[in-house]
Formats: sequence, C-alpha cells, structure tokens
Amino acid sequence: MINQKVQKLLSTMSLKDKIGQLVQFGKLEQREIELIKNGKVGSLLNVYGAERVNEIQKIAMESGASIPLLIGDDVIHGYKTIFPIPLGESCSWDLQLIEETSAIQAREASTEGINVIFAPMVDIARDPRWGRVAEGAGEDVYLGSKIAAARVKGIQRNDWSDRPKIVACPKHFIGYSAAEGGRDYNSVDISERSLRETYLPPFKAAIDAGAGTIMCAFNDLNGVPASANKFLLTTLLRDELKFEGVVISDWESIEELIYHGLAKNKRDAAIKAMNAGVDIDMNSSSYNDHLMELVQAGDFSVDLIDEVVTRILKLKIKLGLFDNAITDIKLCNEIIRCEEHVKKAREAARKSIVLLKNNNILPLNKNIKSIAVIGPLADDKSNPLGCWSFKGKPENVITVLRGISNKVSNITEIYHTRGSGILESEESEIQKAVEIARKSEVAIMVLGESSDMSGENHNRSSIGIPECQRKLIGEVLKTGTPMVLVLMNGRPITLVSENDTVTAILETWQLGDESGNAIADVLFGDYNPSGKLVMSFPRNVGQVPIYYNYKSTGRPNFKKYLDVDETPLYPFGYGLSYTNFSYKNMVLEKHKITQDESLRVTIEIENCGLVEGEEIVQLYIRDLVASITRPVKELKGFQKIFLKPGECRTIEFILKHEELGFYDENFNFIVETGEFEIWIGTSSVEGLKSGFEVVK
Ligand code: NOJ
Repeated sequence: MINQKVQKLLSTMSLKDKIGQLVQFGKLEQREIELIKNGKVGSLLNVYGAERVNEIQKIAMESGASIPLLIGDDVIHGYKTIFPIPLGESCSWDLQLIEETSAIQAREASTEGINVIFAPMVDIARDPRWGRVAEGAGEDVYLGSKIAAARVKGIQRNDWSDRPKIVACPKHFIGYSAAEGGRDYNSVDISERSLRETYLPPFKAAIDAGAGTIMCAFNDLNGVPASANKFLLTTLLRDELKFEGVVISDWESIEELIYHGLAKNKRDAAIKAMNAGVDIDMNSSSYNDHLMELVQAGDFSVDLIDEVVTRILKLKIKLGLFDNAITDIKLCNEIIRCEEHVKKAREAARKSIVLLKNNNILPLNKNIKSIAVIGPLADDKSNPLGCWSFKGKPENVITVLRGISNKVSNITEIYHTRGSGILESEESEIQKAVEIARKSEVAIMVLGESSDMSGENHNRSSIGIPECQRKLIGEVLKTGTPMVLVLMNGRPITLVSENDTVTAILETWQLGDESGNAIADVLFGDYNPSGKLVMSFPRNVGQVPIYYNYKSTGRPNFKKYLDVDETPLYPFGYGLSYTNFSYKNMVLEKHKITQDESLRVTIEIENCGLVEGEEIVQLYIRDLVASITRPVKELKGFQKIFLKPGECRTIEFILKHEELGFYDENFNFIVETGEFEIWIGTSSVEGLKSGFEVVK
C-alpha cells in the first residue's frame, strides 16, 4: 500500500520537488516561505504554535507537489510540562516511567503540530565536563540501551488518531560524547572496538524499538566527520543495523564539513554528505543550493534521489500527514499541562532524586520548629527547568522554598535568604544566611549549577559547586546547625569536602516544573528516595574519565594517582534510602551452563527498616579470562522492587547467554567458554558474589 502511494507521488514530482524533500530549515522567514511555496522545502524545525504550524502546512499542501512538511523539535525532557533532565530521570531506572513521560512529551508536542522529536540522546557519557551529559542516560551501555528503547517507544506510542503522529530521532550518530577533553563538538578518536562495544548498542536498541529517524553527529570520528562518514552512515547504520528510516544531519553539520577541513565549499560538502548517506540537510542549505546542479552534472543519479525521497515519503505517510496534517487547536488547552501530566512530572521528579549521604537527619519532621532555607536556587523558578526547556515556563515551577512551605505544619517557622549568587558572592547575603541558620534547627542549602552551566556547548573544566557557594557553605557550617545540601546540577559534580562536612546530601539534578514538591516529598519522608546514580561522581576532575566498567591493567594493584584515591566518590548504581535492604540467599540454578544456555539466578531481598521503599537490584558479571579483555564489571540486569517494612521477596533474573558474549577480534559476536563472576547488589560496588562457568 505504502509503496504504491510513494510510487504514485514520485511520478507526479519534478526533480525540484524531490530535492525539496531533502531540505530542512530552522527558521521561517519570507525566504523560506517562498521556498516552501516553490516545493523546495520538505521539513522545518523551530516553528511553534498550532496555528502557525497549521498555516505553514496549508501553504505546503497548496503548493508544488502538495506534500506536507515534517516539523521537528527538540523535546528533550518535556514540551510544556517539564520533566527532570534525562540524566536525572535515568537515575530512576524506571523504564515504564521513562516510557510514560516520553509519551506525554510527544502527546503535548503533537497538539502543536510537531511530528519529529529530536530525542532521545543516546550517547554514552563518561566525561562530566561535557555539558551534554545532562541530556543522556549516563555511562552504562546496558542501562543506556534499555532507556534508549523505552524513550523511543514512549515518543512513538502515538495513542491518538485525530492528528499526525510523532517519530523519534535518536542522536547523535555517533561517538559525539567521546569528544576529547569533554569539549563539545571536539574530535573523537576511538577504536572500532569501543565504537561497537560502548557507543553503538543504545542506537541499536533505539532502532530495534522502531526509531523512524536518526540524527548524525557534529564530530569528526577517526578522521571523517560523522556527517560525511560512509562507514558510519551506510556500512554500520544501513547495512549492519538495517536501519530503514531517515537520516537527518545535525544543525548545519553538512556546511561544517568545510570547517572540519573535509570539504572545499558547500557544493563539495553536499557531495560528501550525500555520498555518505545523509538524507536531510538541517538548515545548511547545501542540498538546497547544490543538489540540482549536481544531479544535472551527473554526480548523483535521479535514482539515488528517488531512493532518499522514498524513505522520506514513507515516513510522512506513516505519520498520517497525507490524511490530515492539520491539528485541532482546541486540543492544546485540553492536553498541554493537564492534571495527569503534571502529576506524572511530580512522580518522575521524586523518583529521579538520589540520596548521597544521610547522617541520621532525613527525613525531617513536618512539625520541626524552624528551618533556614538558603541558597541562590532555593526560590529560583528558572534554573530547575534545566537545559533544553525552551517552552517550559518559570511560573509553572514549584521552588524548593514553596515545596517546603506547602509541606510543613503551621508551627514551623521558615526563614529564607539567597546567601549568594550562583557564580558571585554577596557579602550581605552571607551574613543574613548565617543569622537565619543560627536560629534554625536545620539549614537546607539549595545549591549547584544554573541551567545554562550544562547542555550543548556548556562544558566546564572544573565541576565543583561554584566557589562563592562553597564559601557560603563554609560560613553556615560555622554556626553548627545541621546542614542538608540539596543539589541542583546537570552533571556529576565534585563534592569531597561537602561530603566530609555536611550532614546530608540530596542530588536532585534539575527536576522541572514539580521540583519543589518532589524535593519536599523526599525531605519530609512522604517519598522514600530510591534513585541510583547512572554516572560515577569523581573525587576531582583529574580522575575523569571515571566509570565503573573499566578494564583491568596488567598491574591492577598499582595506585593510579599519588594524590587521590582511585575510586570515585560515589560509584555508578549508588544511592541511599530511608530504609535498609538486606540481600541474602543468592542461588544460581546451575554453576555450569553451555554457550547457548541461559542462567536462572534468584536472590532474597528484605526490607529491614521501618519504612516502605523501592530498591533497584543490580546484577553484574565479569568474564574472567577471554580472548579480548573484558571490563572488571558489567551491568547485565536490574529490577526495581517495592517492599513494605519487614517484607522479604525472592526475585529472579534470567541471565541470557547473549549477555555473556562480546565481539571477537573480527567483530563477530561470540560467547566463549570460561569462568564468570556474578554479583547482585545495591550498587556497582556492593553485593553478594558467586561464580559460574560456561562450558562447551
Ligand atoms: C544541535 C544539537 O546538537 C541537536 O541535538 C539538536 O537536535 C539540533 N541542534 C536542533 O536543534
């Protein structure tokens, strides 16, 4: 059916119309409108508002070949209901929740005519200096792949029939997060092994989950920028991963081939990108300016253009754009920020919080007599929105101060002052902070980064709490009042001295609209924190990159640095709870399995504390001797369970044989015989241990 429809469309299209489908613009001024009228544009981004989008769809439908437009947008952690930044939400390890929030984001965006969402970012991130770690799911391949699939499924759930559907666009293909020094856009030089073992699996998972488009990356990868890299875009993506969808360049990344020193000019850039396999040119106009002459000169055949247009038309048909490209404006009010969405945002926010330290102070009593709520982020309505939240509104944000006021009893006295700017000290504020801390039972310090200290091109060479805020901590600590540090930040940060001195630390990332309510839920025990870190927190920036699944060296016992412990401050998978979970009776069904068998493992988990809570149970393995060196630990399973006080449950993992395999020297996937260690525990460094062997 679809094929017939595409053939019919193609037969009515001129070469100009066809090339137009490969052209995307990121602004909509008179020039672009004229180009659309001329059939020379197939897609847009950065066009907002249902009315505006409807208007422009009508123009496209009434002109040239009458082909509706793809309308893309960066819906990274919410359209108008803002959810936690992806790095934070990933700390929930809650795939159902993540799928659900992704579906909500898409549902809201679809009411305003968006049909392509430039997400999820599935780049595995191991360098917290890189500002874009905020947009991803952290350092681990296994968890990152599960989250990638959940996000794609959510974005593409499309549970409506009255307006065009939505397609996901996993990005950035590929290696983007391995930028040297954590400097955004920087060159990437990685082996084919790390490309395949570390960076590729989340893309594969996203494609297997049905992702309909993919965005290629800005970076140079081993000498060839991703946007002109035939090995990546054709050999890997099309031939090996069997991706049949549409490849979109990143913003002007085709033109940027000139600045990489790969192309002489835009014409040359268009040739290289086309040859590599980029279907749509985002905003550089290289295809718009040069494809026609290139086809006429015989550089590209009409057949090749037809092949690309076919992919784009198929997508447009599947999205239902030919049936109805127009959305009903009334839906926006009904759907955007409806009660259900805001409720989900609060649930997602509280599940994203990670309790890093708790010296018997949390949860606080709602009848506490006095609280000092201090810090530049305590009553801030914009920064909790995080990066990439352009359509979020500060007036929708519940601040921590507000959340606490909503929560405590009416006998509680709340004092508040900023105490400092985010990046600059304010002497008089420090004094005020000290005064209110002195007369309070507890000081809640809401500190960290502004939303523009992470995200695209917002990298940091030092990743601690800014100096002026650390000074504030020092002064308030002198009062002797117990201190709870509530952190807002878009990346792992260095916290050694804070960890040594403050009473409790709550990592809250940037939680979006419901920040304050969610944080107050945790501070006062209405929700028992359950988040676990998805990126290791280094002790200092010199340890970066630091991640749990490194490989052993030939001298594993040698000290890595003279001046710092080799472990991270907080490891991957770490996070405390208000209760204690005990792990016992880990049972392996067998201690020997064959290369194509799965292994059933059970373990009992008991809630030994006084309050109910969720635990993220993690399973790791190590392949002890293999023909290719293997990481010291690899996550291969996890389950999130809820237990009442005193409740004990046996849970089961089925470790599939493919979880035990890896790529051999020719990059064939194999499961080798030999011994494995296995741990099940509460983080990547604690757990019960056993072993098994894979035999012929
Ligand atoms: C550049 C970013 O790298 C990409 O993630 C984003 O989707 C595009 N700009 C479009 O805004």
